[in-house]
Amino acid sequence: MTGPLLVVEDVTAGFGATTVLHGVSFEVQRGEIAGVFGLNGAGKSVTMKTIAGIVPARSGRILLDGQDVTGLSPEKRVARGMGHVPQGRQVFPGLTVEENLRLGAYTLRRREGRRDRSRYAASLDSVFDRFPVLRDRRNQLAGTMSGGQQASLSVGRALINEPSLILVDEPSAGLSPVAQLELNEVLQTVAETGVTMVLVEQNIAFGLSLVDTAHLLQTGVVVHSAPVEELDDATLATHLGIGRVLQAATGSALASRQDRPR
Ligand SMILES: Nc1ncnc2c1ncn2[C@@H]1O[C@H](COP(=O)(O)OP(=O)(O)O)[C@@H](O)[C@H]1O
Ligand SMILES: [Mg+2]
Repeated sequence: MTGPLLVVEDVTAGFGATTVLHGVSFEVQRGEIAGVFGLNGAGKSVTMKTIAGIVPARSGRILLDGQDVTGLSPEKRVARGMGHVPQGRQVFPGLTVEENLRLGAYTLRRREGRRDRSRYAASLDSVFDRFPVLRDRRNQLAGTMSGGQQASLSVGRALINEPSLILVDEPSAGLSPVAQLELNEVLQTVAETGVTMVLVEQNIAFGLSLVDTAHLLQTGVVVHSAPVEELDDATLATHLGIGRVLQAATGSALASRQDRPR
């Protein structure tokens, strides 16, 4: 297939009498990291949940790889190659690392039927290769790991189904600066191995250091989409209402990005 891997087309969604998404539209090209940025409550997580099928779209369309998935269950979307790393990571604290990964592989195992065991083993191995810390700690209870390790586990759990697209919601939240740097590298590596990514970040500096394209979300509408190189402080200030402190941080993230080989 050519064309964008993900198309979100005029999607509305909400809860009861409340409409949260008022017609969200953006496209994600194959291999890119697309960022969705917006203030707290703008509808970033609801956008991700609607793409994943956890919140139903009331109108509009979601196309994955050219196929309309708007009416599909979350499980079917996973089977079509979508992975979701929810806000707050949502690892099972009382289960081991490997048990968490096994639960993530539910769809893979079902899809593969009798061949499941070797397929699962290979997929588990490739997640462990990407995240050696998870291999080292495979028998450790997830709840006893650091925030950064739990972030790796939540991303690894989505990758175990070998998705073509992952939706990663606020992965840097609550992490120390050192853990954020590690996470940044992990996500870059994931993208470099060909997994397309939609990244939601409240931490604009962290997000802009990773993404190729930025979509600015304001109260349930994408008000601006641009390649990250074309973003400037004035645009961010207009659409995100961020002040001088964050503008300075954003500036340095963009500056450091120029040095990054791509
Ligand atoms: N399950 C829900 N029921 C009712 N309202 C919700 C629910 N989830 C989110 N909302 C509302 O939708 C809006 C957007 O939420 P969300 O997408 O989580 O924001 P954010 O951009 O911070 O991720 C908020 O006003 C929130 O209160
Ligand atoms: Mg959110």
